[in-house]
Amino acid sequence: MIEKCRLLSFEQRGDERGHLVVIEGSQDIPFDIKRVFYIYGSDRDVVRGRHANYNSEFILINVSGTSKVKVDDGVNQKIFDLDRPHTGIYLPKLIWKDMYDFSPDSVLLVLSSEHYDDKEYIRNYEDYLKVVRSDGNQKD
Ligand code: TYD
Repeated sequence: MIEKCRLLSFEQRGDERGHLVVIEGSQDIPFDIKRVFYIYGSDRDVVRGRHANYNSEFILINVSGTSKVKVDDGVNQKIFDLDRPHTGIYLPKLIWKDMYDFSPDSVLLVLSSEHYDDKEYIRNYEDYLKVVRSDGNQKD
């Protein structure tokens, strides 16, 4: 499943006035966008995320500054650098994620396929392992 986490490069429509990046739901990313949120003002030593989602898919983009995301499918782990405003990381559902190493100017934009629902968050890693190891999700 970890191989489904991947870097997406968005077209930079730059001209002498600067850059413009457009992300169209279900065209530039694999889902329709139902929710947008962004994270800023997190210190370098803060670790955010620490959860997985039953249904939500995400795109993570550092539109300013840099951070890292560690993804984990219960078997394998991978670290992505979020360091360019025209690239994003696609995360499918049921991926455990930690976001960390935020630069002082980090603005981490997140696009999501679902509205917020606390019930679809798995916030305990042991529970997460039970979920991914019990129902064959590793075969996805
Ligand atoms: P949390 O999921 O802990 O953020 P992160 O994973 O980025 O560290 O969310 C922090 C708080 O904000 C928590 O009380 C839930 C709330 N929240 C919403 O109400 N809607 C949302 O879309 C998100 C992402 C969080």
